[in-house]
Amino acid sequence: MKANLVLLPGDGIGPEIVYATAEVMQKLAGIYGHEMQMQEYHIGGVAMDKCGVPLPEDTLQACYEADAILLGAVGGPKWDDPNAALRPEQGLLTLRKALELFGNLRPVKVYPFLVDASPLRPELLAGVDLLVVRELTGGLYFGQPKGRRIENGEEQAIDSLTYTESEIERVTRLAFELAGKRKRKVTSVDKANVLESSRLWRQTVTRVAKDYPDISLEHILVDAAAMYLITRPSMFDVILTENMFGDILTDESSVLAGSMGILPSSSLGDHSNSLGKLQGLYEPIHGSAPDIAGKGIANPVGTLLSASLLLRYSLGLETEAVVLEQAVERTLSGGKRTPDLGGDCNTHQFTQEVMKNLVEVKT
Ligand code: IPM
Ligand code: MG
Repeated sequence: MKANLVLLPGDGIGPEIVYATAEVMQKLAGIYGHEMQMQEYHIGGVAMDKCGVPLPEDTLQACYEADAILLGAVGGPKWDDPNAALRPEQGLLTLRKALELFGNLRPVKVYPFLVDASPLRPELLAGVDLLVVRELTGGLYFGQPKGRRIENGEEQAIDSLTYTESEIERVTRLAFELAGKRKRKVTSVDKANVLESSRLWRQTVTRVAKDYPDISLEHILVDAAAMYLITRPSMFDVILTENMFGDILTDESSVLAGSMGILPSSSLGDHSNSLGKLQGLYEPIHGSAPDIAGKGIANPVGTLLSASLLLRYSLGLETEAVVLEQAVERTLSGGKRTPDLGGDCNTHQFTQEVMKNLVEVKT
């Protein structure tokens, strides 16, 4: 198999974790006789510095043509001026929108050997295995109007939370399809007691759910969902929610897993790639971690597990995806950990161990 991948290392620890992951993927490709072409492009703050914009035209073009994209992180204090016209994050948002990646899948698994890394009591973490399906191209992040204006002599800022029925319907179908392969339960999270967009959300999810009679559906308000996520997280299977709620709840759910550094994500739409699979963007859920950037101690697990999702969804390589996942699990359970998980491994040492384990797991 031959795949055309785009690497977008981005800012902060982005390059460290993306290069580490690319090395592991090449090793895996070698073992299985695949050819992975990887081309690197700029996005985010580094793109602003080098090309003047957070998403240069050649980056976007390469992404359109790619089978899949692996991204590190964008943003950092250097570009944080609140009055700046351009921000690194716009690069990522524009890319998600341009590729119509409306469904962001964020699996949260609690490994038994990492329960100590979570501040929650071990008994609360038993059996936690959930998937957040976050709508990614609508809601507050994209709604118009958006911006600043003078209202009654003072400055006013506006963000609009808009959703159309079809935007809600397509991500709902994705969530139900995925629930069908899991524990067959969808929890839709909204704020229907206050927001009109949430009432349309709830109405649409309820209608679409009728097409999936063997999957149970419950609706929970987002404030309560935030509480249940840490008081009884094992009640969830698939959590379906809108863009900003999903952003917030997935950072919260990383507390269950033990570190922000280990959660992966895949963003999918309905565009096929040259392999007849879904084109997708894969990235860890964490940010650019400027405090540890350049120190070589970033945790590559979120990106490695994102690569495993890439192999599964965009390349159709299920066996290879599982081998990579198991190599990562074996490395962690063997006691090798980066400092965010209380260990003393650096990124390089951790990655070398994962590569050794690829061979072990395969045989
Ligand atoms: C994420 C990030 C992004 C988001 C930022 C960097 C725009 O927080 O992927 O969760 O909010 O979507
Ligand atoms: Mg986030």
